[in-house]
Amino acid sequence: MNRSICCIGAGYIGGPTMAVIADHNHDRKVIVVDINKERIAAWNSGKMPIFEPGLDEVVKRRRGKNLFFSTDIDAAIKECDIIFVGVNTPTKDFGRGAGCASNLQYWEATARNIVKVANGNKIVVEKSTLPVRTAEAMERILSQHPKYRFEVLSNPEFLAEGTAISDLEKPDRVLIGGHPTPAGKAAIKALADIYGTWVPKEKILTTNLWSAELSKLAANAMLAQRVSSINSLSALCEEAGADVEEVARAIGMDSRIGPKFLKTGPGFGGSCFKKDIMNLVYICESYGLKEVAEYWRQVVVINDYQQQRMVGGIIKAMFNTLANKKVAVFGFAFKANTSDTRESPAIAITRMLAEEHAQIVITDPKALGHVNDDLEEIAAKVATTPDPYKAAKDADAIILLTDWAEYKDLDYQRLYAGMRKPAFVFDGRNLLDHAALRAIGFEVKAMGKTWEN
Ligand code: NAD
Ligand code: UGA
Repeated sequence: MNRSICCIGAGYIGGPTMAVIADHNHDRKVIVVDINKERIAAWNSGKMPIFEPGLDEVVKRRRGKNLFFSTDIDAAIKECDIIFVGVNTPTKDFGRGAGCASNLQYWEATARNIVKVANGNKIVVEKSTLPVRTAEAMERILSQHPKYRFEVLSNPEFLAEGTAISDLEKPDRVLIGGHPTPAGKAAIKALADIYGTWVPKEKILTTNLWSAELSKLAANAMLAQRVSSINSLSALCEEAGADVEEVARAIGMDSRIGPKFLKTGPGFGGSCFKKDIMNLVYICESYGLKEVAEYWRQVVVINDYQQQRMVGGIIKAMFNTLANKKVAVFGFAFKANTSDTRESPAIAITRMLAEEHAQIVITDPKALGHVNDDLEEIAAKVATTPDPYKAAKDADAIILLTDWAEYKDLDYQRLYAGMRKPAFVFDGRNLLDHAALRAIGFEVKAMGKTWEN
């Protein structure tokens, strides 16, 4: 087996994952390929196609040495014995299973291409998040080759955006699923050796293929479920006079529950939580597990509810009308430290504000480039500026939706001076110092807390 490895798909997963693998395996050539020419050009330029803290440094360290970005997919398949596949697997938006099932067309195209151009036996590694038992379909396609054998492994990725590099450097675990056959075991070992150059052995977990595939969907479902759980409690806190942050702290100190992922907000966003839960729902339904499907569907129902609830609270506080009022949306990315806006709560919330005829100005340090595409149908009604002070000038309200740390350090006295009165702050992330804002004169409404003046 040769030492070269490649990854098909140079997106949020393929790029950072392969860069870190190259950084820890100088003796291996790592090639990242994609059909998207602009993306590959960006990886080869001074400006990365995605913003991710620490990514620039890793790529610059290894690019041209043992890390290469290319559009020549066939050449990479030929050159490498281990092929990661990290193409996108979005929710299907047509036909059977629309809105729930995974659209596997990019996956299948990749598998067929591997069969077409392979020049020897290969290990094919599922890096994308896939429905459980996708490897079975993959194997059926790959087994059509008259001469060569393909071993399929599942190696789902658990990194989170914004912390991708540190998550890859210090993963909680690396999961590798494969068949318990001699060929399967050899393939698992070959992949474990790549990670073994920096990940402690005890953190490399090997399982059967279906467990690995399902664990990825299950992990995302459980994480999203925690967010929906605390968000559902935020609604109750507001009614009952409790403070959701105090409740989260109290329950998080129970070592069985733990403190992470208990931060209330405008609902979870990101490209995966909703997609993966809806896929889980679809899979459960396909196996006839109606109650299980309904249980997980509720996580997404609560997420939508939280966004509607937030907008309802804004309308009510602002005297039941937003028409012609200027509102400044602080944050468009789905979370801090990323330029990604896929499924960002800001998209749905801005649409609802536009329906109320508000005049909307969006500010964000990294994600403004996506506003026109994400809000295509209302783009004419939405202005953008990277400057939060300009965004809030003459505004009636600041609506904070992304937890960018820099929003904590703004001069709120200056913001207040430029706004129409009463000036409202709706803190969707409980990021700001509410007592200090109230002392300035703001009317502050925060998620999961009672309305105080
Ligand atoms: P992405 O859209 O950023 O990247 C996917 C890339 O694959 C695109 O650049 C696309 O052009 C390319 N591609 C599609 N078909 C191709 C083909 N036939 N040949 C070559 N390239 C092709 O997506 P992503 O965010 O990197 O996600 C990829 C997968 O990883 C998904 O299954 C996702 O669920 C999973 N995942 C993502 C994250 C994340 O943080 N984004 C985390 C864990 C898992
Ligand atoms: C998530 C998972 O955390 C990763 O393990 C997984 O690999 C990835 O999905 C994936 O499969 O794509 P990501 O979506 O990048 O990562 O970011 P998270 O930190 O999980 O945040 C997701 C959303 O939940 C964000 O909108 C965030 O603001 C929100 N969130 C998170 C909360 O509202 N409260 C919290 O306590 C935590």
